[in-house]
Amino acid sequence: MEVKFSARSAEQLKIPPASMSGVIFGTVFSDHMFCMEWEEGKGWHNAEIKPYGPLMLEPSSMVLHYAQMSFEGLKAYQTDSGEHVLFRPRENFKRMNRTSLRMCLPELDIEEVLTTLKKLLRLDSGWVPYEAGTSLYIRPTILATEEAIGLKVSSKYLFFIILSPVGPYYPQGFNPVKIMVSEKYVRAVPGGVGYAKTGGNYAASILAEKEAKELGYTQVLWLDAVERRYIEEVGSMNIFFLINEEIVTPQLTGSILPGITRMSVLELGKHWGLKVSERRVSIDEILKGLKDGSVTEIFGSGTAAVISPVGVLSYKGEECQVGNGETGPITSRFYEQLTGIQYGKVADPFDWVESI
Ligand code: COI
Repeated sequence: MEVKFSARSAEQLKIPPASMSGVIFGTVFSDHMFCMEWEEGKGWHNAEIKPYGPLMLEPSSMVLHYAQMSFEGLKAYQTDSGEHVLFRPRENFKRMNRTSLRMCLPELDIEEVLTTLKKLLRLDSGWVPYEAGTSLYIRPTILATEEAIGLKVSSKYLFFIILSPVGPYYPQGFNPVKIMVSEKYVRAVPGGVGYAKTGGNYAASILAEKEAKELGYTQVLWLDAVERRYIEEVGSMNIFFLINEEIVTPQLTGSILPGITRMSVLELGKHWGLKVSERRVSIDEILKGLKDGSVTEIFGSGTAAVISPVGVLSYKGEECQVGNGETGPITSRFYEQLTGIQYGKVADPFDWVESI
């Protein structure tokens, strides 16, 4: 793939934040972006690394009306030795291609896109923050851009990648959050797009999150749409439970996002010799387990927050504390090990990390 290149001049370059403390997640962007277009009969073309800036889209662009799109989230880290690395980037682009199949978007050539992403990251290497727990969040996105407001498969698309230096996703950092079980709303339905990383899933979650926040909770716990009984996700993350010393997460049913951090937690747990299972988990089992002491830890997993301990669950107006309300030892072990691998502090037995 031929990639055109137009960098900002020295005078136009922005200065990355001196410290990430106080910078809200995803509000600052680096100097450059990658864009390419797709058109029926032509495939991907017009690949270009260029200064970060506004897109030119007609108001009739299909994505603005029918949300035919997909996005991804991955991170570049500065290791303790000063090297810049990515964590399992191919998994993100494989998932993007799976989302594309569901959303009728064109697929990407994973190796070509990864090579170009690395070029962009080398150009904007000064934007990879170095303070503990910080990283450069990478947001690849595909949008349907045909100028038409009849509902159909678009014949034109735009792919872009933008970069945002970030600190912790939640202002609480790695501290237990209070979660409200959503009784009123569901995130995704069987046969729908829950497993796809597409904007509509996130749009559908905003009202529930807003209402939970008004009641003093950080996020909502999503139950299945049919029986309103089986646990699916927490906020925009996958969820894990420690039940009688076993790591349990809801099995992928089609309405759950197959998280890369989720997959890594499962693989790490097995590697440590822990019992790990993917199965249906009902809210009743968890509430009973919290009361009788068989459920000792709960945490969310995702790229943005990595591992997020749950301290309190609220269901039907009743609050239940998880363990003693503090972060549990297994939750901490996953957090330390995953971030240890990402920042090059501990051995990477799976070769998950790749240099830029
Ligand atoms: C991520 O965890 O990377 C996500 O894509 C969630 C998003 C709401 C930041």
